Amino acid sequence: MLFTSSSCGLILKKPVWLSLIMLFFRLQGSTGQITVTQTPSVVVSELNQNVTLNCSFNHSPDHRVTRVILYWYVNGPEGSDVNIYPHGSEEYKERLIVLDKEETPRNMSIILLGVTWKDCKKYQCMLSYDKAGEPERKRGQGILLLLHDSMVFDLAPRSVSSLLCSVKVSPDPTFRLTVLEDGVEVCSTQNDTQAPHAITLSLHVPLHSGRKYECQLNRSSELILSRTYFNQPQSLPEPIFLYIAILLVPFIILIIILTLYLVGDRKGYRGRGKK
Ligand SMILES: *[C@@H]1O[C@H](CO)[C@@H](O)[C@H](O)[C@H]1NC(C)=O
Ligand SMILES: *[C@@H]1O[C@H](CO)[C@@H](O)[C@H](O)[C@H]1NC(C)=O
Ligand SMILES: *[C@@H]1O[C@H](CO)[C@@H](O)[C@H](O)[C@H]1NC(C)=O
Ligand SMILES: *[C@@H]1O[C@H](CO)[C@@H](O)[C@H](O)[C@H]1NC(C)=O
Ligand SMILES: *[C@@H]1O[C@H](CO)[C@@H](O)[C@H](O)[C@H]1NC(C)=O
Repeated sequence: MLFTSSSCGLILKKPVWLSLIMLFFRLQGSTGQITVTQTPSVVVSELNQNVTLNCSFNHSPDHRVTRVILYWYVNGPEGSDVNIYPHGSEEYKERLIVLDKEETPRNMSIILLGVTWKDCKKYQCMLSYDKAGEPERKRGQGILLLLHDSMVFDLAPRSVSSLLCSVKVSPDPTFRLTVLEDGVEVCSTQNDTQAPHAITLSLHVPLHSGRKYECQLNRSSELILSRTYFNQPQSLPEPIFLYIAILLVPFIILIIILTLYLVGDRKGYRGRGKK
């Protein structure tokens, strides 16, 4: 009956067509791709911190994945791959924590301890496994590690009228340092120099009393760190004046009372004189 009515037929066509596609995707999902993903693709950390580098392995029971072996690489000179796990150098053996050392690891992420400038590299995980008995290997797209030191934001050396904001960062043209005065951007800098380890971003701005200053380090549109500087208006003598004023109050009241008394007294004499 439904199919005899053309209008109903038209309405029905779409859901049938849609549900077929949905069914297709559901089937795809269950036997979908085996993937190795690394997110986020860039990690920004402060110097000397412990950094987690993510790697996740997605597969379903249908893939019959066995004999999983985890490897991690960094990009070496001239695009070469340097293994840091499991055959890493002594340095990496001490500083690299593998979260799961089981024969079939579940968590493929690693933690790099006490990161320094020379750790600013791209870290790629690779998984070697058997898929239904056939050997296969897959790599993640890699995570780029970028670092920054702490930010200094204070009066410029030998100056009382200018501020200096500076911070050391890994060479990356998307780092941007900005100084804001009362929330309004006054100046900003980027540096696309390709230095081997680190570069310094710095800004000088004139200081005006009573204004609030903020220095921000951003990367792309993300705020990495910020510091504020609040310059108090020249108010040091004010409390002293206040104390003097408070001390003067009883004295002034005394003078007023005395004056009133004397004036009143003189009026009294005059009155008596007239009589
Ligand atoms: C980094 O990890 C080590 C060892 O787990 C720990 O002793 C240290 O406190 C950590 N450092 C930071 C900055 O979290
Ligand atoms: C690492 O990956 C897990 C799972 O995908 C996610 O929950 C976590 O937020 C990631 N860690 C970082 C530092 O992005
Ligand atoms: C692996 O461990 C790290 C650190 O504990 C955690 O951030 C991450 O979310 C874990 N990944 C998965 C897939 O559970
Ligand atoms: C960029 O950084 C380098 C190294 O710190 C420095 O020599 C250069 O002057 C900087 N360039 C700009 C435009 O600030
Ligand atoms: C830095 O990033 C934060 C967060 O996205 C944003 O609110 C702020 O305006 C950015 N600062 C600059 C100077 O672009």
